[in-house]
Amino acid sequence: MESQPERDRRWMDEALALARRGEGRTSPNPAVGAVVLDARGELAGRGWHERAGAPHAEAAALREAGERARGGTLYLTLEPCAHQGRTPPCAPAVAGAGVARVVAAVQDPDPRTSGRGFQILRDAGVRVEAGLRAREAVRLNEPFFTWQREGRPFVTLKAAASLDGRIASRTGASRWITGERARAWAHEYRDRVDAILVGSGTVLKDDPLLTARPEGREGKPLLRIILDSHLETPETAKVLPPDRGVATILATTGEAPREREALLRRAGAEVLRLGPPEGGRVPLAPLVVELGKRGVRHLLVEGGGRVHGAFLGGGWAHKVLFFLAPLIMGDAQAPGAVAGLAPGLPGGGLRLTHVRWERLGEDMLAEGYLRPPVWAAYGEDGDV
Ligand SMILES: NC(=O)c1ccc[n+]([C@@H]2O[C@H](COP(=O)([O-])OP(=O)(O)OC[C@H]3O[C@@H](n4cnc5c(N)ncnc54)[C@H](OP(=O)(O)O)[C@@H]3O)[C@@H](O)[C@H]2O)c1
Repeated sequence: MESQPERDRRWMDEALALARRGEGRTSPNPAVGAVVLDARGELAGRGWHERAGAPHAEAAALREAGERARGGTLYLTLEPCAHQGRTPPCAPAVAGAGVARVVAAVQDPDPRTSGRGFQILRDAGVRVEAGLRAREAVRLNEPFFTWQREGRPFVTLKAAASLDGRIASRTGASRWITGERARAWAHEYRDRVDAILVGSGTVLKDDPLLTARPEGREGKPLLRIILDSHLETPETAKVLPPDRGVATILATTGEAPREREALLRRAGAEVLRLGPPEGGRVPLAPLVVELGKRGVRHLLVEGGGRVHGAFLGGGWAHKVLFFLAPLIMGDAQAPGAVAGLAPGLPGGGLRLTHVRWERLGEDMLAEGYLRPPVWAAYGEDGDV
């Protein structure tokens, strides 16, 4: 016979799996999943938050459960909201549905709800237990939780390097370093972020599209950003035509020529002048603030080396995803995955924390953090 804690864990895992269906679709909201059991412990409703503006997970699950929610249990990957957003607050609706017990993975970090959602339930006589699978629930929403804590987008750096750390040949050619599986993985990942950024060097060498092209389905339109201090991106660059109404941002400085701006605007781009320049280049602090204002919770930086160096050197990056391919370039003139940090001793380099290695085909993916990730502060199966 399955014990109560085992059953709780199983249903919370189901709620987490439902939440994952919305991952990368719900921004600026978190991805949330919910399961309703009736008073006899039978499955009565399931739901997840599909996208911003759509019903919240608990509302969808309660709708499916109908009257069967009365006296039942609700498993929820995040505290129900207490505030009116685009949809009505969920905590009073959960209490109103007559649910007897709520098992939630984690408290909502949004100050409009944090703790108040649970309080509304308790005041209505609902039994509330929080903390089951907390770490996993936060990990699933690390951009959202990071945003709530730091007030700026979660930044992931991604590169594909040879075993000797080169991301292109000396001529600037980078197609292809990794194999098909790694490249397919990268497109799936792009499809979960809000925005993607590269430097003008990469646009000039690769002429990339910077779209998400996951296998077997259409990727979502991403906000694309190019760092281009002097507006040298050619008007014919593939990245310039808007993607389903979303214009590419050319982030530049006040010094960029006005006539280039006019030409690039005509090609469909948005030109965003930021200042004051940092070493003659686009300053990252105001850029990150601006992207946050536009609802970007997760920014993916895909190189090249100098842009990676700027994000790492400035402390703007949270996570690194570097692929290592079994390929040796053997050329000190070929660009490296990160440029410009130049520590005097190996110990002066940036040592990653919470590192995970994964094999994808012949390639290895290293995931690591520049500082302890937001989810590391949460327990596996208990309150913080
Ligand atoms: N294998 C991979 O994963 C991968 C991924 C991407 C790129 N690549 C390769 O990397 C190479 C390009 O790398 P790269 O280092 O030459 O170019 P990059 O990092 O793509 O772009 C660097 C340029 O961005 C502009 N920029 C504007 N503001 C900046 C700021 N705050 N910090 C840094 N740069 C800023 C600068 O040019 P201005 O001063 O003119 O603005 C700078 O020279 C290409 O060969 C490409 O194929 C490989």
